[in-house]
Amino acid sequence: MSGIVPVVTVDGPSGTGKGTLALWLARMLGWHFLDSGVLYRVTAHYAALSGVALTDEARVAELALALPVVFVETDGEPRVLLDDRDVTAAVRTEAGGAAASVVAALPAVREALLARQRAFRQPPGLVADGRDMGTVVFPDAAFKLFLTASAEARADRRYKQLKGKGIDVNLAALLEDIRRRDQRDEQRAVAPLQPAPDAEILDTTHLGIPEVETRVKRLLRERGIARRGG
Ligand code: DC
Repeated sequence: MSGIVPVVTVDGPSGTGKGTLALWLARMLGWHFLDSGVLYRVTAHYAALSGVALTDEARVAELALALPVVFVETDGEPRVLLDDRDVTAAVRTEAGGAAASVVAALPAVREALLARQRAFRQPPGLVADGRDMGTVVFPDAAFKLFLTASAEARADRRYKQLKGKGIDVNLAALLEDIRRRDQRDEQRAVAPLQPAPDAEILDTTHLGIPEVETRVKRLLRERGIARRGG
């Protein structure tokens, strides 16, 4: 059955608008949604709670394989439950992202999360957001998008986002953190952050969300991928 369920993949570094675009796409198409980054974030969180070092590949992979995680939607917002506790806010912090990037570099952890990610492929379709959705997890996806943007533009967006939430941040430190994380994600031996050869690359440095959505709608139409109801 999974062979015929269509998948749209949205890959790229954080701060490119990838998550917003992927969620919008899933809602527009009426398809399921996979935020694969959350799985790495929850794995790192679970390791910390369990007193396991983030670099202990075998033990972190063991935790990843049996991750007691459930995705729900409350008031239209995706929430993540770990052992029935809402960890959405806890795993979404900058530290949570950095910890996720460390466990994501471990091949056994990536392997452990593979089947769980593929299980999201359910009718009528799936929009999958991540770094290796089009290259490793769903190489047969119907449509692959890869979003890029300069590190400066991404740091600036993150800065405004955090400031908007009343969180005090330093732009230079954010930029440094983004560069460090890009380097780790791009240079890891397994499933490095890179576009699939057949991915459509969209540079969002100078594009707002509405412009990105308009372009993606056109690309979907060209490829015959239908929205909900038609
Ligand atoms: O998308 P995000 O910021 O929630 O991802 C957190 C980290 O997880 C990111 O630094 C890289 C890693 N990741 C990955 O290696 N592969 C994925 N498919 C998704 C995320």
